[in-house]
Amino acid sequence: MYKCAILGCRGRARAHARAYDNVKGGKLAAICDMKEDLLEGFGEEFKIDTRYTDFDEMLSKEKPDLLHIVTAPVLRGTNERIRYSLLNQASEHNVPAVIIEKPIAVESEDWRQIYELSKRTKTKIVINTQLNFHPKNLELKQDVAEGKIGAIKFIEASARNPPVDQAPHVLQLVSSYIDNSQPVKVMGQIAGAGKLDGAQPSPANANGRVTYENGVQASVAFGPEMAPRVLPETGSSRHKRVCVFGETGFVHWRFDSWERYTPEGGYEGGDLNYGAQNAVAQTNLTEAVFNWLDDESKVHPTHLSQSLAEFNLLLGIYYSGLSHTVIDLPFDPPDGMMDMFRKQL
Ligand SMILES: NC(=O)c1ccc[n+]([C@@H]2O[C@H](COP(=O)([O-])OP(=O)(O)OC[C@H]3O[C@@H](n4cnc5c(N)ncnc54)[C@H](O)[C@@H]3O)[C@@H](O)[C@H]2O)c1
Repeated sequence: MYKCAILGCRGRARAHARAYDNVKGGKLAAICDMKEDLLEGFGEEFKIDTRYTDFDEMLSKEKPDLLHIVTAPVLRGTNERIRYSLLNQASEHNVPAVIIEKPIAVESEDWRQIYELSKRTKTKIVINTQLNFHPKNLELKQDVAEGKIGAIKFIEASARNPPVDQAPHVLQLVSSYIDNSQPVKVMGQIAGAGKLDGAQPSPANANGRVTYENGVQASVAFGPEMAPRVLPETGSSRHKRVCVFGETGFVHWRFDSWERYTPEGGYEGGDLNYGAQNAVAQTNLTEAVFNWLDDESKVHPTHLSQSLAEFNLLLGIYYSGLSHTVIDLPFDPPDGMMDMFRKQL
């Protein structure tokens, strides 16, 4: 049984902790938050008595096998980017595995630091893009893999929340349908200044046309202006989706519904309970980390280097929009994009 710990005891950490009701390979043994009231409240709620306000102390004393880093990429109320420093601290303590919330970075500077860390660390790092494990999404992926819609002709995917918030989910979904084929070229556009000083700094909207190494093209749209609505009169966070068109049919996964056309089954579709699908997904994302710890060959599907490639694609969309050029990927993204957004958007 693996020993697990959580850093960050605010809203999102609850989904990580609840997964342990069903996780079999590990036990949640310790939690940490520098805000004592949040720490105590969370500890009471999930009945975890081993509590720390100091991250380093928790890592030194508890030596967890799996650490969940459940924070925003920017420390709230400051402008401090914290993804790299927290991951580096875990790596220096030789934590065997980390699950870290998306997005893995917010801009070129922290992306590059984490990219360099990925080359030297022994820690197995997984990004919490759990949509990969939604049962209906896995079923639709299986249909595509079995050739039920013929060869993939095109992928179209979107989400109405700001790019940095939802592109990590959506770009991971696209990758998952094409066996993590790598993006090689992108042309993009950005619009709207967005919340550049928030906990997830981002332009308000981004669109891109992407070519992948396997020849498949995708059209992606993020933000409320161009990403289509899935349901009327619901908040922007409920509009993520991916549609895969094949030679003879299509599959379409949406936040709380799905549809499929195959020559064999005709048109089918139905509703989904996102909360229920998400709970199963969070459990299975966590179990897949233990499988990777048990067996080197069972690399986690949402591992760090794949997520860094997807974030490099998002940075490519940003920079294509800023520079009016087509970007070959992977690329070395220039520093200072937040200042460029401030000037141009
Ligand atoms: N995967 C999903 O479906 C999904 C859904 C919602 C949110 N998210 C992601 O979750 C993240 C936000 O989660 P949140 O709102 O719970 O986070 P948050 O940033 O509000 O809270 C993080 C907590 O960690 C603590 N903390 C940060 N650094 C610390 C340190 N060095 N030592 C001790 N404590 C420290 C803070 O005090 C805070 O209480 C975002 O990245 C968001 O994109 C993901």
